[in-house]
Amino acid sequence: MAELMTGLTRTHYCGEPRLQDVSKEVTVCGWVQRQRDLGQLIFIDLRDRTGILQLAFDDGTDRAVFEKAFTARGEFVLAARGIVRERSAKNMDIPTGEVEVAVTELRVLAKSETPPFEITENSNVKEELRFKHRYLDLRRPDMQEKIIGRHKIVKAARDYFDSRGFIEIETPNLIKSTPEGARDYLVPSRVFPGSFFALPQSPQLYKQLLMLSGFDRYMQIARCFRDEDLRADRQPEFTQIDLEMSFVDEETVMEIGEGFIKDVYKKVLDIDIPTPFRRMTWHEAMERFGSDKPDLRFGLELVDLSQVLQGTEFRVFGGALTAGGSVRGINLKGYADQLSRKEIDKLTEWIKAYGAMGLAWTRLTEQGESSSYEKFLAPNEVTAVRNALGAETGDVLLLVASPKPKVVFDSLGALRCELAARFDLIDKSAPNLLWVTDFPLFEFDEDENRYVAMHHPFTAPTKESLSLLETDPAKACARAYDMVLNGNEIGGGSVRINDPELQQRMFRALGFSEEQAQAQFGFLTDAFRYGAPPHAGMAFGLDRLVMLMLGGESIRDVIAFPKMANSGELMTGAPSAVDEKQLVELGIRQAESANTPRS
Ligand code: AMO
Repeated sequence: MAELMTGLTRTHYCGEPRLQDVSKEVTVCGWVQRQRDLGQLIFIDLRDRTGILQLAFDDGTDRAVFEKAFTARGEFVLAARGIVRERSAKNMDIPTGEVEVAVTELRVLAKSETPPFEITENSNVKEELRFKHRYLDLRRPDMQEKIIGRHKIVKAARDYFDSRGFIEIETPNLIKSTPEGARDYLVPSRVFPGSFFALPQSPQLYKQLLMLSGFDRYMQIARCFRDEDLRADRQPEFTQIDLEMSFVDEETVMEIGEGFIKDVYKKVLDIDIPTPFRRMTWHEAMERFGSDKPDLRFGLELVDLSQVLQGTEFRVFGGALTAGGSVRGINLKGYADQLSRKEIDKLTEWIKAYGAMGLAWTRLTEQGESSSYEKFLAPNEVTAVRNALGAETGDVLLLVASPKPKVVFDSLGALRCELAARFDLIDKSAPNLLWVTDFPLFEFDEDENRYVAMHHPFTAPTKESLSLLETDPAKACARAYDMVLNGNEIGGGSVRINDPELQQRMFRALGFSEEQAQAQFGFLTDAFRYGAPPHAGMAFGLDRLVMLMLGGESIRDVIAFPKMANSGELMTGAPSAVDEKQLVELGIRQAESANTPRS
């Protein structure tokens, strides 16, 4: 039978007692990390979220207490009262390692079966097992550190924005589905059979409406839902630190945004972040780094070879260029010896995931030169390419050609990150922050055969772009900005459209008829007729920020109960089939056999 806490009150966390507490009586509670039975002597390492404390049982211990300690096993939950004393054999690896508690009273508050994996830091446990028993996984000290660190970051955010005059306001989670953005999660309505709520992809429209209501500065730690394919930095439900401000332009939003990052790094990690952050236009980021979230902690910049290869007879390069594409390359300087032919072949396969047909390469080793493409080029072209890339003995040149510029950027952008990681080229001494600005207003969606908003349809065009909305939308530029930390997009926002006329033009440019725009967004455009102040805002991806600040491989590491790659949850088995009765109430007929993930 489990014993009760009655009459015992915890006085200390396990991680607290120190030499200055010697002779004090303490009561601690926690889980048995391990029990060591040395015959006349038993030690129990007791663990709670603050650390580990040694409990000692010896000749001087009451026999009944000693017997109880004898039966304690890993993950039993104990409460122990006793006297702190100095340890004879000190363990300087843990903060409490100079003391132990000579236990006078011990209660077994709960027993535990042998857990499916050991509760230790960095234990090499299969993911499936970890997530099936997430509550045990979360007992591990490294996981606890991340979840507690997350709390500190959220607390710092609330304090910072409060100090800058922001008001935290909750917005609804059952909202109207709108067609732009990612896929919605839908919730059927019982009261309106056949109608659905959507879960918000972000509080975007509500926060804009709050500006109309005069709240001036809004913030929310907001849960967002997007039914997209998962990656290491994406979850179907994630959290934003969401902001909106009235009577400001991009400069104020950026000042507030970087002020927050400076503040949170100082408070949580005691790291000084210099401000203002570097800024780079979207165009420069793409040209030099092949990415709109460039990692600037290493070089390996892209070089545009399209000019020097203009008119080449080599079909792979020439074909890409005549079709309006480009040829670009990077020089992996000094690593020819370390990047073998075989490794290049593997990279050639790897890069196909980014749409590239292949990887053209030249290796310039001390022992000789080899190349997959130089034999097809004229000698002057070979020289021109080498010169453009600054090639020297010891280098590897890696080129991608495609009729689609985006493919060249995506594949070389990813390749430079892969090579930097592989050859340890990343300067990890300080967090690297920058703003990417001047995004295109639209991007062309080939599936839908129309322009879609690169950010969202409420983002204002730059003044110079106003006339391009109808004439040359591809060239229109947005008053949008993204914040990038170590090559990850940790936030983004824009100045919004507050003129109903301009908003209508924007909807038209996106291919909405007047009626469609009215049906989908009428509530917003109507509202804007009643005095919409100029406003702008942004949202930080909290999970990504926490992951990058605290060190994690995936945002799953910093979310207490995350979803797996197929968007399901292993522990509870969600999503799951529901009762027929529930479906009938909602007026829904079951379309497919439930609970089988779609392949
Ligand atoms: P955006 O879509 O850029 O902007 O999102 C803002 C930030 O949220 C994070 N993020 C994600 N994090 C985890 N999983 C996801 N699936 C995911 N998707 C996005 C990113 C991103 O920078 N309403 C606008 C903001 C605004 O204009 O104010 C918005 O949601 O770090």
